[in-house]
Amino acid sequence: MSPLVKLSQVNKIYSAGEIPLQALKDIDLEVKKGEFIAIIGASGSGKSTLMNIIGLLDRPTSGSYYLENQDTSRFSQDHLAEIRNKKIGFVFQSFNLLPRTSSLDNVALPLIYAKVSSSERIKKTKKLLKELGLEEKINSRPNQLSGGQQQRVAIARALVNDPEIILADEPTGNLDSKSGAEVMSIFESLHKTGKTIVMITHEEDIAKHAKRVIRMKDGQIWTS
Ligand SMILES: Nc1ncnc2c1ncn2[C@@H]1O[C@H](COP(=O)(O)OP(=O)(O)OP(=O)(O)O)[C@@H](O)[C@H]1O
Ligand SMILES: [Mg+2]
Repeated sequence: MSPLVKLSQVNKIYSAGEIPLQALKDIDLEVKKGEFIAIIGASGSGKSTLMNIIGLLDRPTSGSYYLENQDTSRFSQDHLAEIRNKKIGFVFQSFNLLPRTSSLDNVALPLIYAKVSSSERIKKTKKLLKELGLEEKINSRPNQLSGGQQQRVAIARALVNDPEIILADEPTGNLDSKSGAEVMSIFESLHKTGKTIVMITHEEDIAKHAKRVIRMKDGQIWTS
């Protein structure tokens, strides 16, 4: 079976500053459907840059990126936004929930962009929040939730459109160890149901939950 994600010879150079900065160097990476991968590496090694490219938030300076056998360099901005909405679920270190907005509405947002009807939105959103143990927090706003609960709302939002791939950038970075362990057990059960997960972390203990660990150093992937 062909890979879900295939990066070949991807380079990323940031040239806004005085000296161009090469954040990624000749990255070759394949992610197969159903894989659970951790990307680990020091601060500045290029992890988020790589994830932003996989998540179609940014484009490589050179090299190719095929998503489900399609050359993403040919995608228009509108098509990129549509693919991000339908096929990619993002989870961030700082949760990135809308403030002053209930759990229900935060989770339902991607469904609005996907033009899902209101009754269907409420049904799907409530089901997911319940599955993530947030039944009683449906009407709570982010500032009324613990960090672990906010991250579970963010995971529900990432899952609501049933994405092909979940991209998580330090999902446990702002959590205490107990909430971090809860997030990892959610990822493990998602993996068991066949979801594809790529997760960035600084911590070896968190990386251990993944089935494959990719190490980055100075913009390159290290195979040890
Ligand atoms: N938008 C940008 N413009 C210029 N340089 C950038 C930009 N984003 C990242 N960089 C630089 O690219 C390199 C890789 O950054 P990146 O954010 O990918 O690292 P990281 O591995 O995610 O680090 P951390 O663990 O601290 O999050 C760093 O040297 C960073 O300063
Ligand atoms: Mg980062």
